[in-house]
Amino acid sequence: MSTDTDALVRRSARLVVDDIDFDAFARRPLDPDTLRCLRYMCDVEGHTMCYLREVLATRAHQDPHVTAFLACWCYEEHWHGAALSRVLEVHGDHAGALRARSLRAGRHRRDGLRLLLFAAGSAVSANLPAVHMAWGAVNEWTTQAGYARLAARAGHPQLTELLGRIMRQEGRHIDFYAGQARERLQASAAARRLTRVTLQRLWAPVGSGVMPSHEVRFMARHLFGGPQGLAAARRVDRQVGRLPGLQGLRLLERAAA
Ligand SMILES: [Fe+2]
Ligand SMILES: [Fe+2]
Repeated sequence: MSTDTDALVRRSARLVVDDIDFDAFARRPLDPDTLRCLRYMCDVEGHTMCYLREVLATRAHQDPHVTAFLACWCYEEHWHGAALSRVLEVHGDHAGALRARSLRAGRHRRDGLRLLLFAAGSAVSANLPAVHMAWGAVNEWTTQAGYARLAARAGHPQLTELLGRIMRQEGRHIDFYAGQARERLQASAAARRLTRVTLQRLWAPVGSGVMPSHEVRFMARHLFGGPQGLAAARRVDRQVGRLPGLQGLRLLERAAA
């Protein structure tokens, strides 16, 4: 694999927030819509370990470069969730851990079944990691675009600073997933076919598999509705379309619509 995972792993670090003025949110609180989005993003960031279980059920776990990156990825996403949780706590929302616990408990059987499916699929197809890497790239692009839109809409300097730092790390996640996806898709026509069909039929916005549908709709409307939101969605679609075999899917634009 030529994706420089070693460099990405070396640069991995816990998100620096020591110099973020969290008290600024007490002096100038965020609006309810921004807080609603942050709650969603915080919960989804906190769910990363659960996604990791599924990736590791495929043959992706056989590649030590991939597993080295995934270890760092999961660590970084944990601290993204923790930072967002701190913002929510300043606004009186201390229920992050409680929400995570009930979310996971409510999905126990469904998640178990999904794990079985991924393990079984992995036994018959070597191409599941390609699907996972492309799916991961779409989600990281979407997440980064979502943070950019949220910062722009909220117009709160401390939030802009915090989300900017998170977005820089999301950029490195994009480098990994998109790089891995590009190499795996380039190498195999079967991987391209499977990935295209899977994304076309099954892809839905990041977090939609675990968050309530009314929250997913709110997020899609708040961040990717209106002319600027649509432009952001199309930007992500163009990035996805540059991966081998994935031209013209328009996943984000369709989801936003
Ligand atoms: Fe993140
Ligand atoms: Fe990420």
